[in-house]
Amino acid sequence: MPRIAFISADGARREIDAEAGRSVLEIAWEHGIGVEGACEGSMACSTCHVILSDADYDRLPPSDEDEEDMLDLAWGVTPNSRLGCQILLTEALDGMEFNLPSETVNHLDD
Ligand code: FES
Repeated sequence: MPRIAFISADGARREIDAEAGRSVLEIAWEHGIGVEGACEGSMACSTCHVILSDADYDRLPPSDEDEEDMLDLAWGVTPNSRLGCQILLTEALDGMEFNLPSETVNHLDD
């Protein structure tokens, strides 16, 4: 069971023993972490935006073009940004830290 951490914009850290095979968004929902996920993982909202360290970013499979297109529209995007709904947890991702931006943009409302 990979142990991951969510770090909110105010620096609060919450460690979670996550179930492999679930997305970061699903884990956040199940544990009451403030990740909206308005489109429920269909890559249409960018409200599941998470930001990674350089080292953690390199541990993930590359994002595809659809994810990159949606990230281009996210608030506060960085070179290490990903969509939490597109990251599937595996045992190999033990120790990952997901930083949450202080704001998100919901493109479903556009
Ligand atoms: S939940 Fe909407 S893009 Fe991830």
